[in-house]
Amino acid sequence: MERTKVIDALRSTDFGSQINVKGWVRTHRSSKAVDFIALNDGSTIKNIQIVVDPTKFDAEMLKQITTGACISAVGTLVESQGAGQTSEIQCESLEVYGLCGSDYPMQKKGQSFEYMRQYAHLRLRTNTFGAVMRIRHNMAMAIHTYFHEHGYFYFNTPLITASDCEGAGQMFQVTTKNLYNLKKTDDGKIDYSDDFFGKQTSLTVSGQLEGELGATALGAIYTFGPTFRAENSNTPRHLAEFWMVEPEVAFLDLAGLMDLEEDFIKYCIRWALTNCKDDIEFLNKMIDKSLIARLEGVLNSEFVRLPYTEGIRILQEAIQNGKKFEFPCEWGDDLASEHERYLVEEHFKKPVIMTNYPKAIKAFYMKIDAEESGFGGKSGQTVQGTDVLFPQIGEIIGGSVREESYDKLMNEIEERNIPMKDMTWYLDTRKYGSCPHAGFGLGFERLILFVTGMQNIRDVIPFPRTPKSAEF
Ligand code: 4AD
Ligand code: MG
Repeated sequence: MERTKVIDALRSTDFGSQINVKGWVRTHRSSKAVDFIALNDGSTIKNIQIVVDPTKFDAEMLKQITTGACISAVGTLVESQGAGQTSEIQCESLEVYGLCGSDYPMQKKGQSFEYMRQYAHLRLRTNTFGAVMRIRHNMAMAIHTYFHEHGYFYFNTPLITASDCEGAGQMFQVTTKNLYNLKKTDDGKIDYSDDFFGKQTSLTVSGQLEGELGATALGAIYTFGPTFRAENSNTPRHLAEFWMVEPEVAFLDLAGLMDLEEDFIKYCIRWALTNCKDDIEFLNKMIDKSLIARLEGVLNSEFVRLPYTEGIRILQEAIQNGKKFEFPCEWGDDLASEHERYLVEEHFKKPVIMTNYPKAIKAFYMKIDAEESGFGGKSGQTVQGTDVLFPQIGEIIGGSVREESYDKLMNEIEERNIPMKDMTWYLDTRKYGSCPHAGFGLGFERLILFVTGMQNIRDVIPFPRTPKSAEF
């Protein structure tokens, strides 16, 4: 008999028909007259109830069907008497695929997320992680659908690279060299000429630079893949391996970029509310009671567009009125998450797109504001970078208009001592038919954090990589 998924069995009204479901036991309650087995197969947050007449089955076998066991059940689909369910199964035969011992780590309800992280291979079978992983899948579908519908091409950029896009020096090296016997050059440096690629290479921190090559040929592209950062940030918002979505668009200016950021992220949130209703309602009930309100709040608000200089003025004013921050926020400082959250959660009470940052705290490729733009505390010192700041999350998107002038870009590269040897291919975009263009990077896991209401980024990716932790 063909197996029916639990999600379809629960939707079916074909009462009286024979049906076969397979899955993992969530709970098994027995009494003299009847046994109830709640079965889940991962297709939905909901369980299907299997009603068992214990007189018709071997008592020993029934006793062994405990939480976590994997079974197959055949029976008649009937209308459920219980509240909140549509259908259940009147069981006729049971087959046990795999028993589950009483030492099953996911047996108890209400275990802490820290505890469950040690069992990332089994936590996937819990309600919360099932919900998070289904939402994660749905967000990936939303991203591909949004860009496909808007005429962007999915563009695959390399994971192994010789250039540091963000210039922050936080890269993981890739090498096949024998680390026990490193060949050095005469001046004591490591000789990479005999390494696999013949030069020093690393895992990419961003697909942007290659993305720009795609955008200046195809018009509009997006990347969606893993990125790697060896920053020693042990925070609930940082992973060493995370997924990033990076659209890059020719002929897009700063206003257009901000429109795109806002439209795209709202589309994803709307998708989640429409397509992940059961999972989001579950998370709203069990994890964060203000989740749905917060998602709807973002959908219904117009994002604030705030030049950095104005943001600093607001923060300074708050300090004068008695607000205390741990870190300084003078013009020129990189904002700390406490400052971003003050602006978003207390001052404006809606998402903020901060723009026109001092160039010294942003990457080399950002377009320098014209002298007369008036955005800077000091003119010509700000760049057309944007950070989208979200409640609870802080920075969810970082993007910018790109500097399209060859001379200005070269100037920055020289001022920052960026090794030019491996950058000629990038500069060629500015040399041959340079065009104004812009793009951004969305941290996929930060989006999942926001949409699920989960508190720790380690709990929205199946197998997190963080400092001192690369299990599974
Ligand atoms: O602001 P970032 O560093 O920007 C870039 O990498 C640009 N090249 C993007 C572009 O313009 N194409 O990173 C982009 C986003 C951040 O806003 C954040 O959401 C996420 O990536 N992010 C991280 N997420 C998890 N763990 C980390 N360690 C992250 N670092 C950045
Ligand atoms: Mg950033």
